[in-house]
Amino acid sequence: MNVLVTGGTGYIGSHTVVELQQKGYDVFIVDNLCNSHLGVIDAIEAITGIKPHFSKIDLCNAASVKDFFVRNRIDAIVHFAALKAVGESVEQPLKYYHNNITSLINLCQYAGEFSVKDFIFSSSCAVYGEPDYVPVDEKHPVKKAQSPYGATKQICERILSDIAVTGALSTISLRYFNPSGAHPSVLIGELPLSEPNNLVPVITRTAAGKRKEMVVFGNDYDTPDGTCIRDYIHVKDIAVAHISALERLREKKNKERFEVFNLGTGRGYSVLEVISCFEKVTGKKLNYRIGTRREGDVSKVYSDNKLSNAVLNWKATEPLEQMLLSAWEWEQKI
Ligand SMILES: NC(=O)c1ccc[n+]([C@@H]2O[C@H](COP(=O)([O-])OP(=O)(O)OC[C@H]3O[C@@H](n4cnc5c(N)ncnc54)[C@H](O)[C@@H]3O)[C@@H](O)[C@H]2O)c1
Repeated sequence: MNVLVTGGTGYIGSHTVVELQQKGYDVFIVDNLCNSHLGVIDAIEAITGIKPHFSKIDLCNAASVKDFFVRNRIDAIVHFAALKAVGESVEQPLKYYHNNITSLINLCQYAGEFSVKDFIFSSSCAVYGEPDYVPVDEKHPVKKAQSPYGATKQICERILSDIAVTGALSTISLRYFNPSGAHPSVLIGELPLSEPNNLVPVITRTAAGKRKEMVVFGNDYDTPDGTCIRDYIHVKDIAVAHISALERLREKKNKERFEVFNLGTGRGYSVLEVISCFEKVTGKKLNYRIGTRREGDVSKVYSDNKLSNAVLNWKATEPLEQMLLSAWEWEQKI
């Protein structure tokens, strides 16, 4: 079975490609390398022994997307490709709306024309905005997004659910919480082209001396220690969930043509708790200071994962300590 993985040289995409190949799927990666490296293809091959097919294509270019489908027979799509920096999306909203929405529209257009029915979408807990309650479950309303990035995920989900009504596509939208850590082989991990914004790579880069210090964005939130609370989940656990979602669609076990599932551990950690856990497991002291709040951040969000546990028959397995250790191992290698 041929699976198109967009954004497959990126962080979560590359880990998912490995899981798909290990399950016997033939993987076709499409990526424009705007935030990843071609070397990831060799790293994937080093792990699985199989080189994934690769096409360097900007999904915003409709003609190139069409050409890809003309040349390759595709049975299912896992769509990771997107821009994801919350802060940058606040500064450059149009760049985010253009990239994330145009690429989805092009993909859906040609998936329809080439009779591809099964679609997995990378969504985010950002769709919940500042949640009314935590842990947040899938029934929680989609509230005003705190950033243009979050809004692109809401809009893409809306587009996919509207297409589902026509019967053209069946989608499972996976709402990731905070993916962290690296592959146990330490051959792939988070390797963005620009300075990372997510907490864990900022911590590891600071510990490695690649940054002089790190800033904790605000300690005046309504949380026990005043810093933001998030649900950190190992990237390998996220990757494995895509196999369950894909099998659900292939076996036609989905109850609706558009379904959503949270992918989180169900446990929230504050920024200061993550820093302290990192210091404990690595023995490294972090040079951090408290700064002002960052635009686009919600105070606390962590998942209710009962639905994905029960319906996808999936469970996050790796604890925070393991995520931080593997991220640290990876940081020392790159
Ligand atoms: N990492 C997170 O914290 C997180 C959390 C929630 C959701 N997500 C979502 O998961 C998906 C994957 O995230 P990631 O962390 O692996 O990011 P990433 O930047 O490592 O990977 C995304 C990949 O998409 C590619 N890409 C972007 N725009 C493209 C375009 N127009 N055409 C072709 N390729 C394009 C990039 O080059 C990159 O390789 C994204 O949709 C992201 O929004 C990520």
